[in-house]
Amino acid sequence: MVSAPDRRQYAPATERNRDHILQVLQQVLPPRGAILEVASGTGQHAIYFAPALAPRRWLPSEFDPELQGSILAWRTRHPARNLMAPIVLDAGDRPWSIETGTLPPDCTAAELEQEPIGAIVAINLLHISPWSVGLGLLAGASRILPSGGILYLYGPFIEPGKPLTPSNLAFHQSLQFRNPDWGLRKLDSVQAAAEAEGLQLQRVFPMPANNLSVVFRK
Ligand SMILES: C[S@@+](CC[C@H](N)C(=O)[O-])C[C@H]1O[C@@H](n2cnc3c(N)ncnc32)[C@H](O)[C@@H]1O
Repeated sequence: MVSAPDRRQYAPATERNRDHILQVLQQVLPPRGAILEVASGTGQHAIYFAPALAPRRWLPSEFDPELQGSILAWRTRHPARNLMAPIVLDAGDRPWSIETGTLPPDCTAAELEQEPIGAIVAINLLHISPWSVGLGLLAGASRILPSGGILYLYGPFIEPGKPLTPSNLAFHQSLQFRNPDWGLRKLDSVQAAAEAEGLQLQRVFPMPANNLSVVFRK
């Protein structure tokens, strides 16, 4: 018998940052409802956060089919009652797939209506995608979050009046070398674009390794 290939991908950074991120999520997420994770990557964050954040339901998403396979494979090995199957979602799309009827295979529209999405989490997306994707994320968050809903961003940012640390400068340059449309975003530009979408900056948490947790509220 030939066993199925293991589709799990592994991102070591998730193991370094997950506890720090979880501590902030526990403070800022609404106590119930569904949390949509945009750009879930390998799925390692999803399988770690879902059980820790119950009874909230965790809905991972990705636009990369390989990574959707990885999320499913991690979920098979670490099932949690409140961890849904990933959906296809390109943050740059307008409207998002979830607004046009795409649902996780294991969740009905009625269930999602009972526990609507009250928060969106996007970890390490803004600097590893074009700015148009960031704008799509803010616009999508504005469209689907209820009043009081939370958008949580994590990653390195360029803070006003603060020179980049040498490691973040080198990271920014390496991203731009890989793709000129990528790179660290200015926090005040993100804030202005969020405000234009009706999202107010609520809190900024300094995080290890020169990252930030940035929390917006609709
Ligand atoms: C650096 S990885 C971060 C993954 C994960 N959040 C983490 O921290 O490990 C960036 C992720 O953004 C996803 N991504 C890039 N562009 C995207 C888009 N337009 N919509 C949704 N996801 C996107 C990639 O597929 C990748 O999984």
